[in-house]
Amino acid sequence: MFYPEDLVEEVRTRNDIVDVISGYVKLTRRGNSYWGLCPFHNEKSPSFHVIGDRQMYHCFGCGAGGNVFTFLMNYENYTFREAVKVLADRAGVRLPEVEYTEEMRRKEDRKARLLEVNKEAAKFFYWQLRTPRGETGYQYLKKRQLTDETMKKFGLGYAGKRGSDLIQYLKSKGYEDDLILEAGLGNYSESRGLSSQFWNRVMFPIQDLNHRVIGFGGRVMGDGEPKYLNSPETPIFDKRRNLYGLSFARTARMGNIILCEGYMDVIAMHQAGFSQAVASLGTAFTAEQAGILRRYTENVLLAYDSDGAGVKAALRGIGILREAGLSAKVIDLRPYKDPDEFMKNLGKDAFQERIGQAENSFFYEVRMLERDFDLDDPEGKTRFHREIAKKLCLFQEAVERENYLTAIAQKYHIVYEDLRKLVSSVAAQTGLARPIERPRQAVSQKASPEENAKRSQRLLISWLVDEPGLYRKIQEYISPKDFTEELYRKVAERMFEDLGKGSFQPAEMVSLFEDEEEQKEVAQLFSASLPRLDTASQREKAFRDILLSVKKNSFEYYTSRLGSDVDALKQVIDGKKALEALAKTHISLD
Ligand code: CTP
Ligand code: MN
Repeated sequence: MFYPEDLVEEVRTRNDIVDVISGYVKLTRRGNSYWGLCPFHNEKSPSFHVIGDRQMYHCFGCGAGGNVFTFLMNYENYTFREAVKVLADRAGVRLPEVEYTEEMRRKEDRKARLLEVNKEAAKFFYWQLRTPRGETGYQYLKKRQLTDETMKKFGLGYAGKRGSDLIQYLKSKGYEDDLILEAGLGNYSESRGLSSQFWNRVMFPIQDLNHRVIGFGGRVMGDGEPKYLNSPETPIFDKRRNLYGLSFARTARMGNIILCEGYMDVIAMHQAGFSQAVASLGTAFTAEQAGILRRYTENVLLAYDSDGAGVKAALRGIGILREAGLSAKVIDLRPYKDPDEFMKNLGKDAFQERIGQAENSFFYEVRMLERDFDLDDPEGKTRFHREIAKKLCLFQEAVERENYLTAIAQKYHIVYEDLRKLVSSVAAQTGLARPIERPRQAVSQKASPEENAKRSQRLLISWLVDEPGLYRKIQEYISPKDFTEELYRKVAERMFEDLGKGSFQPAEMVSLFEDEEEQKEVAQLFSASLPRLDTASQREKAFRDILLSVKKNSFEYYTSRLGSDVDALKQVIDGKKALEALAKTHISLD
């Protein structure tokens, strides 16, 4: 935290969230909260609501949520510090000059310098492309049908024939050798001294969310190896957490994001008006990137190459997106290889049509699976059907599984009843899914034990946020240590302390976390809706189930750590006592 906590809190309380958000979103009052169209995803009916009492917002459509700081961070793309500053100004709160620790200051300074030297290099390449010496690069990009405007938008550049030119330029601007080395803009060799690996290439600067240059991709003009040369990872260039084109795509608000494989694909797509296109950075698509995309959309369209490698990458990507809770569809680019070629040949209207026809990712997976089997052979066909059944078992939700079962049976001309039986038998054999549906409960039994444990912990926190008075009743049975999920434990520590003092403020907690992903998760925790239960006794039972589930999980967790964790013994003994006491206790919710 850069500013003292109570100062941040003062800034937050002096900026009413309804007022602030009203400046961006048209809000209508309904009962205790305000509703509007979510600014973080594309929608036609309002699912975004702002809760004045809690000073938080939450979108039921895309899951965005948080306090007044996170709103500005997401909407305006501010860092936490910037958001605090802007809101302090707005409310007339004076902020002190920030006090850094020596180490923090050093790291921050270094990062700032790395950004500077990258920016300077980008300027150098940009300028080179636009001089007579850059003619080869310029002609290459022209030949690839990029307009001047596009080249400018993406800051494209050119690295000339000599790798020493960039270094000379950077040194003339006062950048030291070790900074240039650390930025990955040059290498040292005995024979040449410090020299850049980027030469005789067209240069694609890679920008972060704030349009700051964090690295480069350089392409040979023609056939040469390697086709692309990318900056190495540096303190400012994390390839797992950035996406090419995202600084533009994040505000495109097209209702989806199109994930491509290459830089040129992204650029061609944007040029054709599809400003929601992004690509990973010369590496495979990662779970971190999926998590980042989830901030902006629920719908990802894959526009991967139509060759074998592209199919493989798409199948991998589908898994990652599904894991992140995003819906994925696959755009068919055939007969063209990639979006860039497609655009050149058929143009944007045809592409728009392909978006409309994009294939559901499950159907795509099954269609790709089909290619591995000889369907003319009864044995091959049986094995194919068994594989389909296995995949169907992976759907956790019965309704979803049922819908896919029906659709697939129809599509592949399998007798519905036969496929259903096959699914049941595969499920029974592999334990992948439960063939018989159980009634819905507050604590789902279908998920894995870890998911269940996590879910109970989450629900318990959400419940206490809803009814802080309950804390008093369960205080003696529960401690933050029972939350085995690290983030939840951190939340519980602070929350229980505050609840004990009777001064719990959900919106305050959110800003105690610095990582944006964490903030978002905490916000979700605080605005999650609890299971809808009708009667008081149902509610009591659900609450009890959740509490017991948290305690049991904690007991098992510490039992398994006996011997390796000094704290474990005490936790196990206390946990056992609490469980015994709870077995005899009725906790009433009124
Ligand atoms: N890539 C890379 N290094 C290589 C080849 C590819 O980093 N030697 C990465 C780049 O990010 C590239 C992406 O993989 O954009 C996709 O590769 P490819 O389809 O071969 O390139 P395109 O982007 O289609 O480039 P072009 O159209 O210029 O061939
Ligand atoms: Mn290409």
